[in-house]
Amino acid sequence: MTDLATLEAEITAQIAAAGDVAAIEAVRVSALGKSGSVSALLKTLGAMSPEERKERGAQINAVRDRVQTALAEKKAALETAELDARLASETLDLTLPAPYRRKGSVHPTMQTMDEMVSIFAEMGFAVAEGPDIEDDFHNFTALNFPEKHPAREMHDTFFFNPKETGERMLLRTHTSPVQVRTMLNQKPPIRIIAPGRTYRCDSDATHTPMFHQVEGLVIDKAIHMGHLKWTLETFLARFFETDAVTTRFRPHHFPFTEPSAETDVGCDRSGGEIKIGTGSDWLEILGCGMVHPNVLKACGIDPDEYQGFAFGMGVDRLGMLKYGMPDLRDMFASDSRWLGHYGFSAFSAPNLASGLS
Ligand code: PHE
Repeated sequence: MTDLATLEAEITAQIAAAGDVAAIEAVRVSALGKSGSVSALLKTLGAMSPEERKERGAQINAVRDRVQTALAEKKAALETAELDARLASETLDLTLPAPYRRKGSVHPTMQTMDEMVSIFAEMGFAVAEGPDIEDDFHNFTALNFPEKHPAREMHDTFFFNPKETGERMLLRTHTSPVQVRTMLNQKPPIRIIAPGRTYRCDSDATHTPMFHQVEGLVIDKAIHMGHLKWTLETFLARFFETDAVTTRFRPHHFPFTEPSAETDVGCDRSGGEIKIGTGSDWLEILGCGMVHPNVLKACGIDPDEYQGFAFGMGVDRLGMLKYGMPDLRDMFASDSRWLGHYGFSAFSAPNLASGLS
């Protein structure tokens, strides 16, 4: 065998032995690279006679061409094999469930609000709404607040700068203005709840400057306080999903109801969290009463023909009680760890048929 044939056989054997694309590249460099074995042979041509060079040159070039072709074929075969292996190992089974990665959750206040709406909806209440930015008439005057009532003062109410007319708009301090808007717009019988945001200049463990209320209003002939008490007690038992919940009605005063009461729920605050159905502490959760005749009159309803009851409850506080959160301020701190811990799945909308929470 000539040295050229030996070299070609060696290179051919190396190409055959190469197991991957990197190995084939190494063979290419060692044979055809600048200082490769075939290149070294081509460099010897310069020292030969023209006849010798013609013959030898043709032989070496033929070897180089065959090596080049063999390298290219082997490389293509290896690349195809590598792709096949990757395709086989990287299959994606689209029928598998998606990995559970929680990005967002339903805020406990919104969960609580949804639960409340579903309970009252089932009791026959419709949902009414009103604006967060209110005027003095709907927030106070029509609700029978006397001209000098302290709730109108700066320390409770967030007022806007006065308009040119001197009128000051305000952030509603309660959802009760929705009572007024509803009674002005529809004739009795009325049976609505009004969930929404409310604002007061106040902040401690059980008060935040923005909080949520659900207002309730029932107006019809022959409505009395027994209806009010039944409605609230039935609601609370369903909301807390237990008959162990204890309630306390305390006489109170609101300008827009007469008589009026505040309702507390019995709870235990001794541990780090609030528990209901046990303990000797109370948390005030709502105000209620029979709609004052002056309010009915201000809304064009004859108090001799119609009466009704109203209530307003703190949504965030009910959520705190039900889900054991000790501090109201945490609810609005936007701490993603807190939200991850207390938040609810967006896929489990509360309803009475399948359970609230
Ligand atoms: N608006 C009252 C409050 O925010 C609650 C309330 C509503 C009381 C309806 C009686 C009737 O405290």
